[in-house]
Amino acid sequence: MKVLLLCGGEGTRLRPFTHSIPKQLLPVVNKPILHHILEWVAAKTPLREVVLLTGENQEIFRQAVGDGSRWGLQISYVCQPRPLGLAHAVLTAETALGKEAFLMYLGDNLLEESVGEYLCVFEEKHLDSLLLLRKVPDPENYGIAEIAGDRVLRVVEKPEKPPGNLALSGLYLFSPAIFQSIRNISPSARGELEITDAIQNLLDRRKKVEYRLLTGWWLDTGSPDALLDANRYLLGKFTPAVLGRVINSRVNGCLYLERESSIENSQINGPVYIGAGCRIKDSTIGPWVTIGDGGTVTGSALKNSILFSGAQVENFALHQSIIGRRALLTGRHRPDQAQGAAPSPQPFSRLLVGDDGVVIS
Ligand code: G1P
Repeated sequence: MKVLLLCGGEGTRLRPFTHSIPKQLLPVVNKPILHHILEWVAAKTPLREVVLLTGENQEIFRQAVGDGSRWGLQISYVCQPRPLGLAHAVLTAETALGKEAFLMYLGDNLLEESVGEYLCVFEEKHLDSLLLLRKVPDPENYGIAEIAGDRVLRVVEKPEKPPGNLALSGLYLFSPAIFQSIRNISPSARGELEITDAIQNLLDRRKKVEYRLLTGWWLDTGSPDALLDANRYLLGKFTPAVLGRVINSRVNGCLYLERESSIENSQINGPVYIGAGCRIKDSTIGPWVTIGDGGTVTGSALKNSILFSGAQVENFALHQSIIGRRALLTGRHRPDQAQGAAPSPQPFSRLLVGDDGVVIS
């Protein structure tokens, strides 16, 4: 069995970041989402062959993950020139998948639990699809499965009136029967061949479709808030280490400080991850902050935020913010919250600034 890893799509909900980097390659904590996924495939599944489907930007993926040998995987590439839907992506990969059963994984999802047990169920019961479902608070944003006991009654994509709250997570197991079902369906109102409609077609054809409930942590990272959620979750998991220099500063909670970085005259409220070659001065950082390699933060207060590599922030109080690569933020006045002063009524700002963006206030 192979893994079909879908990395197409335009990532419109993650603009401006996706103007310059595909959403699957956006960094969360210290590496791109796609690296986290490939680590998961290597550690949590017995599968080693990955078919990676990209849009026309395939070269950037080849540079980011190569042939997969770094993770003990074999990656082959397929190009879907236009994003015409998840089911269309599956058809595009049909030849590469070799008409065998496969595990389909959406490249903007992060998942904790192992799927070995689900692969066994799928194979032993000779299923045509095993759906991995997760309870969600906002079912109108997902494909939703209606179930009765252990049966799947129907599936519907982003319903206005959801028949339940069990979402199709970004993980599916399919037999080759899915290819015929995709050929049987028509594009949805948004002009895409929906994988949910193809699954409904499997049900209409009385193919064997079952479900299991995911219990561990699962996240679709397709929006800024979801990316911040993923950041918070992954920050809660790493082992602290201080490889750089901490000068005249206070550190509370978990800190990972990479090599050649320094924290001076500042307060850290972990969990905080600071990449290599960063300079932090006269600031209060955390909780839930990631600063990418080569970042500079001076006279600022940051919490629950992500700075991509090379971002520079001076005299800003930020929360729930994502700051792109090499972006430059300069405030005229140092916020009270810097250097651990008692919080003033002055609010923290929320900014989403794309790569190379400049904000002067
Ligand atoms: C896609 C699927 C949807 C599924 C979701 C999981 O939605 O169409 O059925 O529930 O992934 O992440 P999208 O994220 O493309 O809006």
